[in-house]
Amino acid sequence: MFDVLGIGSFAIDYLCVTDSYPQEDEKLEVDVLEMQGGGNIATACVAAGRLGGNVCYHGAVGSDENTQLILEELRREKVNTDHIEIKKGKNPVAFVIINRKNSTRTIVYSKKQVPSFGYEDVDTGIIGETGVLLIDFYYEKASLKASQEAKKLGIPVVLDAERVTPLTDDILRNTSHVVASKSFAREYTGSPRDRDMDKVLDEFSQKTVCPFIFITLGSDGVIGFDRENNKKYSQNAFEVDTFDTTGAGDVFHGAFSLFLSRKYSIDDILKYSSACSAIKCGELGGRKGIPTMKEVQEFLNIT
Ligand SMILES: Nc1ncnc2c1ncn2[C@@H]1O[C@H](COP(=O)(O)OP(=O)(O)OP(=O)(O)O)[C@@H](O)[C@H]1O
Ligand SMILES: [Mg+2]
Repeated sequence: MFDVLGIGSFAIDYLCVTDSYPQEDEKLEVDVLEMQGGGNIATACVAAGRLGGNVCYHGAVGSDENTQLILEELRREKVNTDHIEIKKGKNPVAFVIINRKNSTRTIVYSKKQVPSFGYEDVDTGIIGETGVLLIDFYYEKASLKASQEAKKLGIPVVLDAERVTPLTDDILRNTSHVVASKSFAREYTGSPRDRDMDKVLDEFSQKTVCPFIFITLGSDGVIGFDRENNKKYSQNAFEVDTFDTTGAGDVFHGAFSLFLSRKYSIDDILKYSSACSAIKCGELGGRKGIPTMKEVQEFLNIT
């Protein structure tokens, strides 16, 4: 039995840190250039695993020079890879340029030639073997199928919503906990950039039937709404010496899913997940800074 089963994006990230963004047609030497595993759901799975969860990633990877690297990194983090199919094609790669001076990170990526993982590829048998299903919109059809199955079985579905896609509404109907980015919430509700995010949360909750709706706001924390109890939530982000925010959201989703499977209260889920993301921000890339449970407890002064 798994605590968390993840279906969705994975990638190899090439990360570099600079104090000035390069001009077009220019060469720029950087002090730090590193490769790490990335992708929303694969990184979330690693986070849930490092926190002590029994985690499985279900999907397809390509058949190029990065395949073993991707699989080995997941295995090293104790993420179960038995339900990953290797298919002919490329693995997704992302280039991340972190500009320390302006606190920005620019990402260039490609999905071309990445093998598909569709509706029929989902092994519905393992959906019943997990406490929580974690999905995104990367493999929309697979997310739809898995979420339909989970809903049927009464298994909570956590959705990392980053951008609106054709199946967004269908997937939201099967989702118990949507944890959306600020830009998704604005896009989905058609809200202008200057609209207060509490208002956007109200509009978001009116547009969906999801029982729990959350919007992560980067360094401004996270807000949420529990429909059944008509209860609002908010959790500030923890102040840390931030080095790089790449993957903060992914780590949040992984931690959220694990703590949900462990039946923490919503207040505690938000507090612990925020702590995990804040700690991660102290290191480069999505994965290096992910804490263990002991480190989270020390961070929160829990003995
Ligand atoms: N600079 C920061 N300092 C402390 N915590 C942060 C910071 N940035 C993000 N976090 C934490 O991580 C959570 C998720 O971050 P964010 O809202 O940026 O996710 P996102 O939009 O999905 O981004 P991405 O997927 O690119 O990481 C926030 O709610 C907050 O708790
Ligand atoms: Mg995100």
